[in-house]
Amino acid sequence: MSANIAEMEKRRAAARMGGGQKRIDAQHAKGKLTARERLEVLLDEGSFEELDLYVEHDCVDFGMQDQRIPSDGVVTGSGTINGRLVYVFSQDFTVFGGSLSNRHAQKICKVLDNAMKVGAPVIGLNDSGGARIQEGVASLAGYAEVFQRNVLASGVVPQLSLIMGPCAGGAVYSPAMTDFIFMVKDSSYMFVTGPDVVKTVTNEVVTQEELGGAVTHSSKTSVSDLALENDVETLLAARDFFDFLPLSNREEVPERPTADPWDRLEESLDTIIPPNANQPYDMHEVIRKTLDEGEFFEIQPMHAANIICGFGRVEGKTVGIVANQPMVLAGVLDINSSKKAARFVRFCDAFNIPIVTFVDVPGFLPGTDQEHNGIIKHGAKLLFAYAEATVPKITVITRKAYGGAYDVMASKHLRGDLNYAWPTAEIAVMGAKGAVEIIFRGRDADGMAAATKEYEDRFANPFVAASRGYIDEVIYPHSTRRRIALGLRKLRNKQLENPWKKHDNIPL
Ligand code: HXC
Repeated sequence: MSANIAEMEKRRAAARMGGGQKRIDAQHAKGKLTARERLEVLLDEGSFEELDLYVEHDCVDFGMQDQRIPSDGVVTGSGTINGRLVYVFSQDFTVFGGSLSNRHAQKICKVLDNAMKVGAPVIGLNDSGGARIQEGVASLAGYAEVFQRNVLASGVVPQLSLIMGPCAGGAVYSPAMTDFIFMVKDSSYMFVTGPDVVKTVTNEVVTQEELGGAVTHSSKTSVSDLALENDVETLLAARDFFDFLPLSNREEVPERPTADPWDRLEESLDTIIPPNANQPYDMHEVIRKTLDEGEFFEIQPMHAANIICGFGRVEGKTVGIVANQPMVLAGVLDINSSKKAARFVRFCDAFNIPIVTFVDVPGFLPGTDQEHNGIIKHGAKLLFAYAEATVPKITVITRKAYGGAYDVMASKHLRGDLNYAWPTAEIAVMGAKGAVEIIFRGRDADGMAAATKEYEDRFANPFVAASRGYIDEVIYPHSTRRRIALGLRKLRNKQLENPWKKHDNIPL
């Protein structure tokens, strides 16, 4: 017995050393934590329960039969974050560069299967040289098995990927199918083909960071939702983020006690809208003043900043926020902002998270660039996402709600449950100037000015829409939080189902 215990201890100790001290030192020298150190930061102290520590690869080619390292390049298991269950895998770059063998893949698959069985989120920590080259097609098979599970888990349990090192080739497609991706600046990158192949094929010279670093993917491509400074910051952000998520699509959103009164009035919102309709203001202020303790976890802040998406809480419960941002491109809807918000709305809907939408939108962005790149198809994504969503939807129009963008932004007509407008709201087909130029073309300057004034008087307000019931109530800005809190209470037991279908056909 004691011999067996000694053997167990020996094997455990060997597994904990991964690829050995030299490689651990090299990992640290790059400013990176090891796979196990990362899990210590991510999970509640002492909560990690490992699975498959003794698993080794079964490759006998290229001398691999003599190089077996327990755990085989990925540490897997479950733990808790602030007491709530989460399944995790953490790739160990010190073992064959974290490359994915078939057994390594099977370990990840087991994590995904277990998480699905009990209904718990999965967080994957990626740090890998990709397919285990010595294994050939067995490694590719392993990837595809992981991909298949990512897809089946999508919409069932939340999946978060932390990219903390290389993630290249087909390996990118597992994180790409998860719900959110956070990347570490300078030490992580994602690309389908790296700089060398790019140079050979297209003659472009580009660095890893430019091609697929954290900043590139968090600003340009939107592949990543956040770029963080280092491993610890990324892992702590993941903990904060996790606290907003329900465990699965069958669970309610989590609740955190708050001392912030639900009926707190915010007098400053009564004057936030500038007198000139073309002057911007920061929609973040409206969002923070509405949420518990002003706490807002924004995703993709560096991409399509003309729309703001993120999570907060009202009366302790998670809500998803979508808001036009007048500070960036006047809050216009374009291709990128439509895609960003559509994906976010669909995540919220899949996981029972109520959506609060703040509207100040002058319309869709005109131009050949937008039209030729498919604003019709991409704008339709957001329209589609809002229209199919059955979670509670509360909308507050703070200022402009023009044209098709009025319809899209969780309007009453797309089954908005509570549609509020501030007295400063302007709900019309378009701005007065544009409208008058079309319907009164040819009038002289005085005639145009008079017509513009008439159009403004008629439509630059919320009352026409309210008189038709498209707006449920015109509210004081200072009472926004109170109204939203009351609305969410009322809608807690909302029941709404879409017609049966295999799945929809959202314009991809
Ligand atoms: C086996 C690998 C490996 C791999 C790295 N290693 N990648 N072993 N398979 N894919 C091993 C190295 O041999 C080395 O072993 C250790 O990991 C660390 O690698 P280094 O090269 O020393 O590290 P570094 O200089 O930091 O470079 C990291 C790297 C580089 C950029 C990731 O290792 C690299 O380019 N690897 C190959 C990447 C690749 O082409 N992968 C296949 C992509 S195709 P020792 O013993 O010296 O420590 C793919 C298809 C997936 O993934 C398809 C899915 C559908």
